[in-house]
Amino acid sequence: MKIKKSDIEAVAVKPSQYPPENLKEIAFAGRSNVGKSSLLNLLTGRKKLARVSGSPGKTRTINFYLINDAFRIVDLPGYGYAKVSKSVSQDWGEMMEKYLSSRQNLLKVIQLVDIRHEPSKQDVEMYEYLRYYGLDGIVVATKADKVSRNQIPKQLKQIRQTLKLGKEDIVIPVSALKRTGYEELLDVIEELLGE
Ligand code: GTP
Ligand code: MG
Repeated sequence: MKIKKSDIEAVAVKPSQYPPENLKEIAFAGRSNVGKSSLLNLLTGRKKLARVSGSPGKTRTINFYLINDAFRIVDLPGYGYAKVSKSVSQDWGEMMEKYLSSRQNLLKVIQLVDIRHEPSKQDVEMYEYLRYYGLDGIVVATKADKVSRNQIPKQLKQIRQTLKLGKEDIVIPVSALKRTGYEELLDVIEELLGE
């Protein structure tokens, strides 16, 4: 698959702001700063489609991107940003819960984790949550350029173990910086959409 066209379609903090459930959706979840927005830009070939920043907590809304006029990729707000207040993290929980529990056209949520570290407690919780809703099975290990080539298998194994992935589950190492690994993800997305 090639992504030829991409555009922001909606920015939402509540369900009344979601676009209609007429198109299939695939969402990205992960810790703040893990590289969700960067991955979206890599997939679409548009450097400035989603905002990327050195300061965590950049994406605090649910952002819906229309792809090839055919499906959507949804950039979810990141978790685990220490400096947010209690009310902000409560808002985050409600926003995620409402979206993940009710969205009929949501096929899968791709979980992003940083390839350098063992998935955090919050990563594990997020993934358990996805499993509960049947939205699990695809993990992207981001920032693959930050570890040496021969470290990658070891890191992927640790991610598999900590998230308790099954044999059929997929982990794809990706680097937005080096622009590597994303074709495999596009193939997985294409397969999902075709099912
Ligand atoms: P929130 O919007 O806060 O949830 O963060 P996010 O998950 O959208 O992360 P974002 O894409 O904004 O990236 C955070 C930082 O990581 C930025 O400084 C990016 O340039 C950097 N980054 C993202 N992907 C990669 C990568 O593959 N390699 C390297 N070296 N840096 C990356
Ligand atoms: Mg972001």
